[in-house]
Amino acid sequence: MKNSYIKDIAFHVPENILTNDDLSELMDTSHEWIQTRTGIHQRYSTGDSNLGPVDLAVCAVNKVLDKSNIQKADIDFVVFATSTPDYFVPGSGALFQEKMGLDNIGVLDIRQGCSGFTYALSVADKFIKSETYNNILVIGAEVQTTQLDFDDNGRGTAVLFGDGAAACLLTSTSKDKGILSAHLHSDGRFIDELGTLRPSSKFKDIITVDNVKDRKHHIHMNGREVFKHAVRRFPEVILEGLEFNNLTIDDVNLVIPHQANYRITQAVQKKLNIDEDKVFSNIHNYGNTTAASIGIALSEALDQNKIKDGDIIVLASFGAGFQWGSIVIKW
Ligand code: ACO
Repeated sequence: MKNSYIKDIAFHVPENILTNDDLSELMDTSHEWIQTRTGIHQRYSTGDSNLGPVDLAVCAVNKVLDKSNIQKADIDFVVFATSTPDYFVPGSGALFQEKMGLDNIGVLDIRQGCSGFTYALSVADKFIKSETYNNILVIGAEVQTTQLDFDDNGRGTAVLFGDGAAACLLTSTSKDKGILSAHLHSDGRFIDELGTLRPSSKFKDIITVDNVKDRKHHIHMNGREVFKHAVRRFPEVILEGLEFNNLTIDDVNLVIPHQANYRITQAVQKKLNIDEDKVFSNIHNYGNTTAASIGIALSEALDQNKIKDGDIIVLASFGAGFQWGSIVIKW
């Protein structure tokens, strides 16, 4: 029986930094308001560079390949998670394949919002455990800042999100390590609480001038409803994963939650009754990078030597849909 493990991981963010003070010049907000409610100090933005999620992903993947000492020809498959695809069709995976100059391997786009990275890892894990593939690139990449409403109407959401990409190489092993379990959930009753409604193929004109005037092409969110469900679903799905593996929260060395909002992370930590230093957070630096956030956080946690061989790591996500999930890993 094969297991899958994260052989190497890296991330990339664009050069341009948007601080809270920068945002307060665009809209009626302040560093104090943003920092106390979200923990965010700054985020990275592609600005007017015309870089898409695929461009950021290529940079992250090149760093992974440098670390891994693996050739492009050894990559069997790509799972590309993004909620801000370069194009409506085709998916970003195809574009990524062309830009990387990969052979005719399969690529799969995942559009699960903030749960993109957990869903993508889960799919890749199954391909490896079924012995279909040996080396899969799992990518979470987002350019959120081009779709935010940077004026007073959008201040409730525009302050939250940032751009970035994370990529890892998931590899097969016969050793007793790697992904132990994946638990994935969704509840479509809450679709209207968080998302981007246009363009939509439901309507004859998928996007109209009126839609744009109504700001329907910007992400919208019912922040309080998201908060309420997130602080319930994160602990629930983390405990579900642990129980499945006959583990308890005391066995966990590090929880890496999707970086939604520092107050959500704190509430989850308290509900789990786990030490603060066992729940990783870097949202102050990057904002919420949606499908990229768990990968960026995992990569930084490794760079900071917070993870060692044999550790039990739990990745957990919650986001639009609502969709949520957890991945338990023996490092
Ligand atoms: N700056 C200043 N004032 C603001 C801003 C801003 N950026 N945004 C909203 N306000 C104002 C509102 O207009 C409102 O003013 P009013 O009282 O005069 O009407 C007041 O602040 C309170 O607004 P609320 O939306 O009720 O603010 P709340 O205290 O709920 O905080 C927040 C908003 C931070 C988004 C909160 O709801 C929250 O933490 N929600 C969790 C959702 C989240 O973080 N999602 C992340 C993305 S989704 C995901 O990753 C799962």
